Amino acid sequence: MKQIRIVLIWLVTLILMVGCNQKPKIGFLMDNLSIERWKKDKDLFEQKVIELGGIPIIEIANSDPEKQILQAQNMIDQGVEVIVIVPVDLKEAGDIVRLAHRNYIPVISYDRLIKDCNLDYYISTDNINIGELQANYLTKIAPKGKYALISGPKSDYNAYLLHLGWMNVLQPLIERGDVEIVLDEFSNFWLPDEAYRIMNNYFKESNEIDAIICGNDALASGTIIALKDHGKEGTVLLAGQDADVQAVRNIVAGNQTITIYKPIESLAFAAANAAIKISDGEAPSNMNITVNNGKRLVPAILLQASVVNRQNIKMTVISEGFIGEKEIYN
Ligand code: GAL
Repeated sequence: MKQIRIVLIWLVTLILMVGCNQKPKIGFLMDNLSIERWKKDKDLFEQKVIELGGIPIIEIANSDPEKQILQAQNMIDQGVEVIVIVPVDLKEAGDIVRLAHRNYIPVISYDRLIKDCNLDYYISTDNINIGELQANYLTKIAPKGKYALISGPKSDYNAYLLHLGWMNVLQPLIERGDVEIVLDEFSNFWLPDEAYRIMNNYFKESNEIDAIICGNDALASGTIIALKDHGKEGTVLLAGQDADVQAVRNIVAGNQTITIYKPIESLAFAAANAAIKISDGEAPSNMNITVNNGKRLVPAILLQASVVNRQNIKMTVISEGFIGEKEIYN
């Protein structure tokens, strides 16, 4: 009898162990959480991985590319089966891909592309299109005038893609002599202070500006402060990106023209789905496009983003539950 009991206990323990082992660990390496959107990406990704039966392991590098490499090593040691990554640096993160591959772990680049390496998958929005949406919107209102371009840092490939989109729209207008680019700078970080510094420097030289396109809402918010300092708030067209709560409030107040609303939920869910599929030994679905990262054509999912302006706030960010109505109008 005692022996049967011992065998039973062993069996239960074994079943439990096998059960635990079946839960795949999925790593998510993030850059930082200082920009509002990333908290949403994190929570949604975490939630979906758990729902699909995985164990999410999440690390935040606080904008330090070296730290991100150490965190990658750490999660490999913990036995992750797939790594999803928001790279701090477009090139240095290639070391993470190589490290993961030495351990037979595939890597999905999330939102930002990793350049010049054998990256496995890329899940993002169509960032060139986002740039075009921004520039198209402002040039419809001001087809002629002086434009300023404030990009994100060169460590983020999205900054280049957005700029490409801007120029796709602006170049013909520049050649026609209708639009003049009076300022075109990459910031060091995606932070308000950077845009504030860049705009202030510009205002030391000139006071003339009709429209400003920023890589994201954080840069747009720094721009607004510089505009205020020079008595120009609400008089200059301004585009940002991310649909941060403050940016949408700025749109309501008339200090910002548009922002871009990215489908964060679809993005996070697509990454979680792909990671779980890969951990099951299956190919991820919906990778219906390839993106050249300088080394290979990376199978990718590129989702579409949309413009948020003063008129469609309810129909976009509010109706989709991205931001609560009270957060904006209170
Ligand atoms: C970019 C991203 C933007 C913005 C920025 C700052 O890569 O596409 O949506 O959040 O990083 O974190």
